[in-house]
Formats: sequence, structure tokens, C-alpha cells
Amino acid sequence: MEKRQRESWGSRIGFILAAAGSAIGLGNIWRFPYMAGSNGGSAFILIYFVFALVIGLSIMIAEFAIGRRTGLAAVGAYKSINKNWTFAGVLGILTAFFIMGFYPVVGGWALAYVVKSVTGLLSNAGSIADAFGGFISSPVEPLIWMGIFLAMNIFIVARGIAGGIEKASSILLPTLFVLLILIALRSITLPGAGAGIEFLFKPDFSAVTGQTFLAALGQAFFSLSLGMGCMITYGSYLSKSKNLPSNALIVTLMDTIVAILAGLAIFPAVFAYGMEPTAGPGLVFVVVPTIFAEMGALGILFSVIFFIALTVAALTSSISLLEVVTAYLIDERGMERKKAVYISGTIMLVTGIFSSLSLGVMSDVKFLGVGAFDFFDILTDKIFLAIGGLLLAIFVGWVVKKEDLEDELTNGGTIKFPLFNVWYNLIKYVIPVAISIVAIMGIISIEQ
Ligand code: PFF
Repeated sequence: MEKRQRESWGSRIGFILAAAGSAIGLGNIWRFPYMAGSNGGSAFILIYFVFALVIGLSIMIAEFAIGRRTGLAAVGAYKSINKNWTFAGVLGILTAFFIMGFYPVVGGWALAYVVKSVTGLLSNAGSIADAFGGFISSPVEPLIWMGIFLAMNIFIVARGIAGGIEKASSILLPTLFVLLILIALRSITLPGAGAGIEFLFKPDFSAVTGQTFLAALGQAFFSLSLGMGCMITYGSYLSKSKNLPSNALIVTLMDTIVAILAGLAIFPAVFAYGMEPTAGPGLVFVVVPTIFAEMGALGILFSVIFFIALTVAALTSSISLLEVVTAYLIDERGMERKKAVYISGTIMLVTGIFSSLSLGVMSDVKFLGVGAFDFFDILTDKIFLAIGGLLLAIFVGWVVKKEDLEDELTNGGTIKFPLFNVWYNLIKYVIPVAISIVAIMGIISIEQ
């Protein structure tokens, strides 16, 4: 195979925005609030933060290191270090397809709600929940929005790393920050918002079970785009002069800040209007428009802003999922970028159609007892990402040479990584044990 010049990020800030763009997504704004809401609020959030900042950050550093060291995407990176580990990379590609089985469906909902916000959705606050149920279960409309959302992904990723992904993220991510801050400010200044802030920040451990830990761990991996080779892939386009640990720290902190912002945008308003935080996946799509419906014309504006923010967040993440598969096809199958994008995009269109229809006309078709949408969601979040993270930690801790890791993380000794030994011991011993315990506890408490 002829060796092509590998693409690379244009600048440090461009890379950070792209990696943060991958991390910050539906996971932060759609999933985090409803997971927190259904798992008792503050205690879940505290456990989540610890997992994100200790396990998540360490794994992100490891993924960047492996990606840049090998200069290859997930499968190639594992394979080039040890052939027996190729399966771990393949599992990552599979996970990307599974996440893209439901992600563009929700991305399409967000896009649809930008338009619906101005076309009368908010005119009757009492019917918003029914409208959401009717919309997501209808056979054609959500498919069209999903198709448009996927087409945006294909358009961006086909343009490549610096010209496509980096450029889009550099515009979209700062936009998202501004929009979310605006909404959070509105939400926390509502009368009665205090109860929502308490729900977010005052730890109450009475509702914590083994499942809470597993849910928080899955959420940390999902939100930080870890455990499936995405950050390996993004790391593979990094130049040798970049400081990997500090970039990983910035990305992790940005992701955590956006989760907090999303919590601040949603819960104070939920409580201020006397709604239930446990509404599940419909939380942002039902609660947020209902809140805005009560605010008149200004509410319409806020709703449009919110759903643009959600669409933007979803887009900068889903392009990274598409890139994981695309990069594999380019690296391992020698395909042209455009062809790789079109082929993977088409497969994602088909899985997306199944999962969208599983919420309506195809609700009787079950995989392991659940519809396609839930199947993709549960399988990735509760199982595949945790296994992927576990495999990565074992691989980096026990297969990759320690000297190579130190060399990579200090750029050949030219920069300092004072916590190298702490990080290494976390990856080698603590994290594999911690993930295993959390997984076992979670499984035991599901059976009870
Ligand atoms: N991190 C994204 C989110 O929070 O929505 C989802 C995601 C993107 C997961 C990329 C995994 C991934 F590789």
C-alpha cells in the first residue's frame, strides 16, 4: 500500500476545540441531565465528577499517547503495537457504529426542534409532551431530520481534518458556550430556582446503588468520548511537539464545565416550574420547551438558541464518531477519504432508520428484549465503553513499554510530566480494578 502523507491538525487551539467538540455533545446536554435526574441528582453528579477527572482523564492521556505514538487510528494503533490486540481496536469501530445507530436520531430531533420552536410548538405548553411522543414515533418526519443531520456530518468529515473537522469545531464550539451560558443565566435567575441548584450540588447519598456507579462510569466514558478509540484517532493527527497531558486536562475540564452548565440551564428551571427531574430521555425535549412556552416571545428565542446549541454540540461529536470509522477505512483498507465517508455514512443511515422506527412503527421488533434505539444506547453505554476502557488500560499498563509511554508523554524528554508515575500506576493497577468492581457491582444490582 502506498504511504500517504498523514493529515494533521492546523493548530493547538484547533485540536483542543475539535477534541473538546467530540467530548461535548448530546452526552452533556441531553443525557447528563436526564441521567442525573433519574439517579438522584447530586450524589450521581459527584461520583461522575470523580470518575471523569480520575479515570476519564487518565484514559484520555493514554489514548492520545497511543494515537500519536503510532500515528494510526484505533485498529492500526493496537495492531501495530501487538497483533493479538487488534480485536480491541475492532471493538472500538463496532462501538462507533453502535453509537451512530442512535446518535443521529437524537441529533435530528434537536435540529427539528430549532424549527418547531418557531412554528407553534410552544403555543400550548400543555401539549408539548404529547407532541414530542408523537414526533419521535412518527414514521417519516424524524427520518428526514436524521437524514439532514447525517448529511451535515458527511459534508464536514469528507473535507478532512484541518479543513473540515477542525474548522467546523472552531466556529461551533465557542458558539455553544455562549448560548449555554445565556440559558443558564436565565434559568438560575428564575424565582424558585434554588431547589434546582440544591438538587445539583447538595449531595444526598440515600439513592445510591451499584447501578448508580455503573451509570456514572458509563456516562464518564460516553461524555469524554473514551473507550472506543476516538481519542486515539484524534491523537494520531497530533504533531510531536504538543503536550498531551495538559491538552487532555483542558479537554476534560471543558467537558465537565459544559455538563455543569447544562445542569444549571435545566434543573433550576425544572424546579422553578414544578416539573419532574426524572422524565428520562425526553427531559430536554419536553421540559425545556415547556419552560420556554411560559415565557412568551422571549421563550421562543431562548428555545431556538437552546436547540441550536444542542444541534451544534451533537454535530461536533458525531463527526468524531464518523471519523473513527473513516480513519479506519483509510488506514487499514487504503480507501480514499471521500469514499470511506460515504460508505460509513450509508451504513449509519440504515442503522439510524431502524432505531428511529423502533420508537414507533417497529416497536415490536426487539433485540435482546429492547428496540433498536435502546439496544444501541444501552449496549454501548453500559457495556462496550466500559470494556473498551478496561482493555485500553490493561493494554497501556501491561503491553506497551513503560519507557515508550514516558518518552511519548514527555515529547522525548523535552517537556515535563511530573505526575507520570501516578498516572502510570492508575492506568496499570487502579483503573482496571476500579472498572471491574464497578461493572460487577452494577450487574449484581441489576439482578436484584
Ligand atoms: N462524547 C459525546 C457526547 O458526550 O455526546 C459522545 C461520543 C462521541 C462518544 C465520540 C464516543 C465518541 F467516540
